Amino acid sequence: MDGGKAFPELGGAVAPPPGVPGLDIDPFSEAFFADPYPDHARLRDTAPFVWLIKYGIGAIARYEDVRKVLLDWETFSSARGVGMADFAKHGRFRLPSIILESDPPQHTRSRAVLNKTLSFLVMKSLRETFAAEADRMIDELVEKREFDGCAELAEAFPLRVFPDAIGMNREGRDNLLPYGDMVFNSFGPPNQRFLASATRAEAAFTWVETQAQRENLSPDGFGQICYQAADKGEVTHKEAAMLVRAILTAGVDTTVNGIGAVLFALARFPGEWRKLRENRSLARPAFEEAIRFESPVQTFFRTVTRPTTLDGHPLAEGDKILMFLGAANRDPLKWENPDTFDIERPVAGHVGFGVGIHACVGQLLARLEGEVVLDAMARKIGTIEVTGEPERRFNNTLRGLKKLPLRVTAV
Ligand code: HEM
Repeated sequence: MDGGKAFPELGGAVAPPPGVPGLDIDPFSEAFFADPYPDHARLRDTAPFVWLIKYGIGAIARYEDVRKVLLDWETFSSARGVGMADFAKHGRFRLPSIILESDPPQHTRSRAVLNKTLSFLVMKSLRETFAAEADRMIDELVEKREFDGCAELAEAFPLRVFPDAIGMNREGRDNLLPYGDMVFNSFGPPNQRFLASATRAEAAFTWVETQAQRENLSPDGFGQICYQAADKGEVTHKEAAMLVRAILTAGVDTTVNGIGAVLFALARFPGEWRKLRENRSLARPAFEEAIRFESPVQTFFRTVTRPTTLDGHPLAEGDKILMFLGAANRDPLKWENPDTFDIERPVAGHVGFGVGIHACVGQLLARLEGEVVLDAMARKIGTIEVTGEPERRFNNTLRGLKKLPLRVTAV
């Protein structure tokens, strides 16, 4: 339910500026989420820069344009929010992220610390534990034969490995998913979906703040790396807590949807599943292709900082731009057969993890999770099929499933 009303506090229904084609697409409606691809094509085909009448907002959906805007952080800022709301005009409903919702120089300081926290070496140290957990979980599921690929694998795996790795205590981990759901909803309009998720996640707010404190993280979890950086003066201790909070916010729902995406894709494209079984080194590319194919993070916004143009149309300081990462990842001008899931395609350059200074800082962790799950599946599962109607989970930013009934056979 979206209410169908305009949001005057966010601009409301506004006619397009001269020369910019207006579209009646609502990218935050259930109809859109259920099947975004025809509208993605309309958005791409109409013009490089289009206007979403319902929200009075400019949008881009072609690969080249999305990439260009992502790379130009000086003109297209994140500091006024990467959602529809402009912090400068509409305020904020929670403290902003000092990484996602910031520009240099703040962003540079935060990013340096998170680059260390989520580095290649840290991921290497986690690989063995993650792989053992994936093996254990897949063994159980093969034994079971029929299971829900969402609850029992796509959600269960990150929820098992991630909180331990960062060093969280055991209580309250079930707050992570509702919290992430609420934050990712908050990047869209303040629709019913956001309001309902904010109510569900009320308790999670304080819990996440508390969890992110140093004394609540185990000494050997990677969350401590943020505090060690603070000890060296690279950020303040308050900022360290905010960086841990950023990881807790972005680190679960995203990977849940990434793993869900690859499971669903492999079950629908048996030829690709066969290729993976025959060649396990395709585990990583298969996960990457699923990120392109489904784009678990579908959209983000930027705010214009200075007069510029997009496709020849003038933009003023303060204008919001909606970027369709999911549409860019299936742009036929960039990708051959974009609607085909092909684990051997050259997938480099997709924008599923973003690009430029804000490119996902947790992507090594996401890939590690995806890879160990797929590797275990390829060794232990013979066939995989969808046995019932999958159900989508609707979120203003994330694309994913809430139910995926699967049947597997052992090798
Ligand atoms: C499949 C999983 C994931 C996907 C698809 C994904 C997607 C993205 C995207 C598209 C961005 C760019 C945002 C922008 O340009 O405004 C981003 C940034 C970010 N991601 Fe991820 N992400 C994933 C997993 C993770 C994980 C596991 C973590 C943490 C452990 C994480 C933490 C972050 C943070 C902190 C940022 C902000 C980086 C910055 O602003 O410099 N993400 N992610």
